[in-house]
Amino acid sequence: MKINRKKLAITVLKGDGIGPEIIDQGLRLMSIFPLTWHFNYGDIGLGSYKLNGNPLPAGTIKKCRTADAVLFGAVTTPLFLKDYVSPIVRLRQILGLYANVRPCYSFERKPKKIDLVIVRENTEGLYSGIEHRLKGGAVAERVITVKACRKIIEFAFKYAADKGRQKITLVHKANILRLTDGLFLKIGRAIAAKHPGIDFEDILIDTAALNLVRKPQTFDVMVTTNMFGDILSDEAAGLTGGLGMAAAANIGRNTGLFEPVHGSCPKYQGKNIANPFACFLAIALMFDYLGLAKFAGMIRTAVAISCQRGLCTHDLGGQLSTTAATESVIKIIRSEYAVN
Ligand code: NAI
Ligand code: MG
Repeated sequence: MKINRKKLAITVLKGDGIGPEIIDQGLRLMSIFPLTWHFNYGDIGLGSYKLNGNPLPAGTIKKCRTADAVLFGAVTTPLFLKDYVSPIVRLRQILGLYANVRPCYSFERKPKKIDLVIVRENTEGLYSGIEHRLKGGAVAERVITVKACRKIIEFAFKYAADKGRQKITLVHKANILRLTDGLFLKIGRAIAAKHPGIDFEDILIDTAALNLVRKPQTFDVMVTTNMFGDILSDEAAGLTGGLGMAAAANIGRNTGLFEPVHGSCPKYQGKNIANPFACFLAIALMFDYLGLAKFAGMIRTAVAISCQRGLCTHDLGGQLSTTAATESVIKIIRSEYAVN
């Protein structure tokens, strides 16, 4: 999508825990670029539940629908609060954000760089929210539809073509989940046959998990169903600097939502020690989406330089606070690119 308007309407959902402090640093970073933003703030998460009796008020959904893009922090999802549904999972479904894209890139200087992208189906699978009690237990339904499989696999092929990537690996468990993942695989093979310019392979989820650790360089674009994608992408994040460095784009037909992958990390809340770089990389993804690839590149380069100089938070082995790490990135962008 190429939006590139003069004034960009961004709905900002800070959320809970470290969400607000991380997003505040992201807004600081956004303010240095010669762009005019119109920010619209919305309530989400446990704080909103306490305030409004609803973790995802209708007003927040409306603000997301009318935005050019949504910037989301993190939410706390209490485990045993009856009828509480994760508002970010709901929001992805309501806004039709069917593709979750997570680039995994190693910013540290390493002999072998990791550079892969996980494309995860974002609206169904085990996250359909359909669970029933059974005598002696409970059951969760894993919903896989032809429509959603086509959309996500076609998205992955288009993404690979647009970004000049060579290979798609479809990850599944069709040997056991014969109907659901069998369908996903069958559709994947049919779509791959129409794209002879891009290599295609399929592997089982367990093998994918192993190979991701042992030989991550063999992957380029991975496409998979919702829960496999959730787990694999956190695993990949672990190979590339941890959750403090992982960002995701949630793309739909009408809008995109961009987020650091980590949760609300309550133990770091209010201490000024959480890593803001995942949020900055989420903003870079948002800039790409808004047609601002040049500025997105500046953010990525500045984050890489800052990490290589050891100017980072403790999770990456540095000593900087959240705010000082932000200042480091802003200073690098200003000095490298003369952005004021
Ligand atoms: P978490 O991502 O909040 O934290 C897990 C660990 O990752 C932390 O202990 C910390 O060591 C590290 N970490 C996370 N963010 C970091 C950052 N910015 N800088 C440095 N280190 C960081 O996940 P956890 O502890 O499993 O969940 C906490 C809450 O967050 C729960 O209520 C959970 O439901 C929620 N959650 C929300 C998500 C979202 O909003 N998208 C995603 C994952 C969890
Ligand atoms: Mg996750």
